[in-house]
Amino acid sequence: YVGGDADLYQLPVRAGTTEILPGVATPVLGFDGRFVGPTIRARRGRAVALQVTNQLGHPTNVHLHGGFVPPAHDGHPMDVIAPGATRSYAYPNLQQAATLWYHDHAHHMEAEHIYRGLHGFYLISDDAEQALGLPSGQYDVPILLRDALIGADGSLVFDPADADNRPTVLANGKPQPYLRVAARRYRFRLLNGSLHRIFRLRLDRGQLIQIGTDGGLLPAPVAVSEVKLTPGERAEVVIDFAGQPVGTRVVLEDTSGPVVGFDVVGTATDDSRLPDRLIPLPALPTATVTRDLALSFDPAKVAFTINGQTYDATRVDARVVNGTTEIWRVTNLDTRFNIDHDFHLHMIQFRLLDRDGVPPAPGEAGWKDTVHVPPGSTVRVQATFSGFTGRYVYHCHFPEHSSFGMMAQLEVV
Ligand code: C2O
Ligand code: CU
Ligand code: CU
Repeated sequence: YVGGDADLYQLPVRAGTTEILPGVATPVLGFDGRFVGPTIRARRGRAVALQVTNQLGHPTNVHLHGGFVPPAHDGHPMDVIAPGATRSYAYPNLQQAATLWYHDHAHHMEAEHIYRGLHGFYLISDDAEQALGLPSGQYDVPILLRDALIGADGSLVFDPADADNRPTVLANGKPQPYLRVAARRYRFRLLNGSLHRIFRLRLDRGQLIQIGTDGGLLPAPVAVSEVKLTPGERAEVVIDFAGQPVGTRVVLEDTSGPVVGFDVVGTATDDSRLPDRLIPLPALPTATVTRDLALSFDPAKVAFTINGQTYDATRVDARVVNGTTEIWRVTNLDTRFNIDHDFHLHMIQFRLLDRDGVPPAPGEAGWKDTVHVPPGSTVRVQATFSGFTGRYVYHCHFPEHSSFGMMAQLEVV
């Protein structure tokens, strides 16, 4: 699948610093030493190769979240890069245009590694998307949202047992940044890279129009009052600042306060479009297998489990025949402690069928690889496992839960 050429990226994983608080250098871990790794722009049908050198003193690896990638290149939690070693990942980019991201997935380290900065965007474009004429170039802006606990000395404080949201919300590594915008249409790609904060994003003025989910564009734009993102999820939105007078500040806010602001500083011509129809969703094939997964916290073992078990790399929890369409019914049993979870599957994009029997809102009806599973609820997702054979993982994408066991293994045979 990586016939001939690929676009090659060198991505050393190393320590670096970033400025979160003004004038204070915060030590981070980063792809290329950057707190938010470089945005990789891929084109459908053209492979990308990452050459990753581990310059840390402990194992790391790279997982392309949402990517249709063969198992040897998926960044399985047990498939790590030893300190000092270099390895290459090849991504075929066979899937439709989508907002993906890449992050560390080294088992038991992923929560801290992601927290300290091993995360970045990976954007796939294609002809069908380009023909739509959506805002592009400088008007197409990825925004990585996450929280952090910042010590008095500027350091990122990490406590794996911390069950609370970290207090400082960062957008592309900065607390409440303001982006200068022209009074025209923009496309924003929003990603929740937090360890467990759930964002509920609203605009203080103007209209949020959602155009995409984890795995690509929706069939049609949808006006939404709120975009909810659990860790790992993405949403693409369009905001048109054309109605806002120059000098206006438009704020994207969470229940906790402002997240990112947009200062309308001038006018600009706008040759972008927002068509009524975007990328059609295929009809769902009939599923032939149903599986049940129960997510629960086990206080006696201080473990997070799936069907009562913690992750064991030597065990295969779901054996799936290549090409089969399956329904996975995922239930969050943690009503007693009221613990939120979400559910993420590697290798393929799935579709959300319903939550407690209720069909998804239009903003969740597209291609997904991560869905929220609130306490006491059951979500049904449908996936067609066709493509690569081999072992992948599925897990809760609150990394502190997956590293404490809430992860399992899938084998496509
Ligand atoms: Cu975003 Cu298994 O990962
Ligand atoms: Cu993933
Ligand atoms: Cu969880």
